[in-house]
Amino acid sequence: MDSLLIKGGVPLHGEVTISGAKNAVLPIMAATLLTSEPCEIRRVPGLSDVRFMGQILTWLGAQVEFADGAVRIQAKKIKGAGDYDLIRKMRGSICVMGPLLGRLKKATVSLPGGCVIGARPINLHLKGFEALGAKVVIEGGYVHASARRLVGSAMFLGGRAGSTVLGTANVMMAAVLAEGVSVIESAACEPEVVDLAKFLTAMGAKITGAGSPTITITGVKELHGAEHEVIPDRIEAATYAIAAAATDGEVILRGARPEHMHAVLDKLTDSGVKVERHKSGLKVRRNGRLKPIDITTLPYSGYPTDAQAQIMALMALTPGISIITERIFESRFMHVSELARLGADIEIEGPSAIVKGGKPLSGAPVMASDLRASAALVIAGLAAKGTTQVNRVYHIDRGYENIDGKLRQLGARIQRVEES
Ligand code: EPU
Repeated sequence: MDSLLIKGGVPLHGEVTISGAKNAVLPIMAATLLTSEPCEIRRVPGLSDVRFMGQILTWLGAQVEFADGAVRIQAKKIKGAGDYDLIRKMRGSICVMGPLLGRLKKATVSLPGGCVIGARPINLHLKGFEALGAKVVIEGGYVHASARRLVGSAMFLGGRAGSTVLGTANVMMAAVLAEGVSVIESAACEPEVVDLAKFLTAMGAKITGAGSPTITITGVKELHGAEHEVIPDRIEAATYAIAAAATDGEVILRGARPEHMHAVLDKLTDSGVKVERHKSGLKVRRNGRLKPIDITTLPYSGYPTDAQAQIMALMALTPGISIITERIFESRFMHVSELARLGADIEIEGPSAIVKGGKPLSGAPVMASDLRASAALVIAGLAAKGTTQVNRVYHIDRGYENIDGKLRQLGARIQRVEES
């Protein structure tokens, strides 16, 4: 298993290009199942999750071709059941269910389990499919949804923690080929949902309200092939912005979209980081001493859970007490014990982490537990004295394109150590 070896203490300087958004491209790739015509998606990040979605679509019968940062997909003839083990491996693959149901009126996928960040149920996805008239049965580890016809209807998809991103995407993808009008209330407002709606619209779907809590979909008979360029990854951009602040550097985030990052940029500004619009994106640098801040993760446009671990690494370096409350996933604090190995002083109390920041961090061997936890460990390692070895780096390759190469370009001393 590969690991990353980081010699910390070097301020990051220079420009980094933000890749396409993982959480936008995965449902968009799944949406290509809605038509037999060819689709082309551009600004596709080179990530293991994206290659994995390619394998799932291939298994379902689609032709998938990656080339030059794009993917061409044609799903001429497809089957309605996903491979048990393939789908189970990546939670994001649940979003093939909506398109399969929309096009074939039947879908069978393995029930995704929980993961280290929380239970991750799919009850709201299934509630939406049922509202469209599908019968849903869970049997033998599979979830089967089928309908003679899908009929548009009004539904409320709010849950315990608010809206659901992939649930909204999934139901939207089934509803585009339903008869009549569907209205999703308490829909997720994330930019990735808006990007998916844009792609579906380019395929001939009729959708209004994406980006707001009420999405209205008027079903059409069929969709056609389309081209699309995926939005830049706001979480990758947030990660490099936080890394620049943590190392007291100055970084230009080429292609970053500030309009997708209000909550993160606002919190960075509060903590004493200077964020400026730049002709090619955003410029981020430290503005004197860092200040502690309190953060609660929320659905968009609140502070994203996917950037919670990274800001915790920054707050560990910031003198004073910061309180970080996680409201989306109940156990997304796996990075706390690993940050402690570097010398961070963090206590967990219920859904909050109390960060007593400002203690000097020093390098240590640490273990990545999930994608964003790994990013937090890399940030802490970049700022720590001495050498940090981040093990199980495959987690980071799921969601950060060429992270070691990009950081090296910014001056970081980081090496990938391949284990045979
Ligand atoms: N929830 C339910 N029932 C459901 C679905 C969700 O109760 O049927 C709950 C979840 O347990 C959670 C909350 O609703 O408490 C929000 O979960 P959501 O469904 O929005 O998460 P997701 O769609 O499965 C996507 C991203 C995650 C990101 C979350 C929240 C993809 C592939 N994944 O997951 O990304 O954290 O939205 O923004 O889009 C990551 O990139 O590291 C990552 C985990």
